[in-house]
Amino acid sequence: MKKKDLKKVAVLVSGGGSNLQALLDATRSGEIPAEITLVISNKPEVYAIKRAEDSGIPAIVLDHRDFASAEEFSRAILKRLQETEVDLVCLAGFLRILAPCVPEAYPNRILNIHPALLPAFGGKGLYGMRVHQAVLASGVKYSGATVHIVTAEPDQGPIVCQEVVPVKDDDTPQSLADRVLQVEHRIYPEALRLLAEELIEVDGLRTRLKTKPN
Ligand code: GAR
Repeated sequence: MKKKDLKKVAVLVSGGGSNLQALLDATRSGEIPAEITLVISNKPEVYAIKRAEDSGIPAIVLDHRDFASAEEFSRAILKRLQETEVDLVCLAGFLRILAPCVPEAYPNRILNIHPALLPAFGGKGLYGMRVHQAVLASGVKYSGATVHIVTAEPDQGPIVCQEVVPVKDDDTPQSLADRVLQVEHRIYPEALRLLAEELIEVDGLRTRLKTKPN
């Protein structure tokens, strides 16, 4: 695939960046007609930044604590996305809620990964290890991972990919997180491929696969 045909993707992170790594590996291998051209972290000195730098991708820190409001923080992110002329955005372990101005500027072009079966165990205050703690406390026997399109409502956009993971009797939040992460690393590149190949049709909260044009 010629470079000019690749969709430009920004990845937003807040931590270790194992999902960023899965996306980097999949885009580099040519499985996805996309290239990651920018990484933005809201936290300085996280391992995700090193992963970007090791791959030669520009990484910038926009620390949410430097902004007066979530709206101002989100507008600063939006400015960078627009300056870099990205086509798509992936939230990969990005633990801040974006103000509506960002999804409104990129309708159906932002993906998020969440470590549970949305719409359960999502929304404000449910992120990272807190999700797995809530899952275990609820007693459910299955959890999973979800990739969805980002809309103005946190964790409530149309679901693109979802996969179930069993909860084991002796699970701790960490052991469940580890099992869910393995699934995340598989379904996130797949969801990005579908978006980059323009194969996702959105109908309300439902998505369907378009048939591939010849
Ligand atoms: C992942 O489990 C991701 O699903 C979760 O944070 C972890 C980040 O891991 N995201 C959320 O909870 C967002 N609501 P990573 O930094 O190794 O990709």
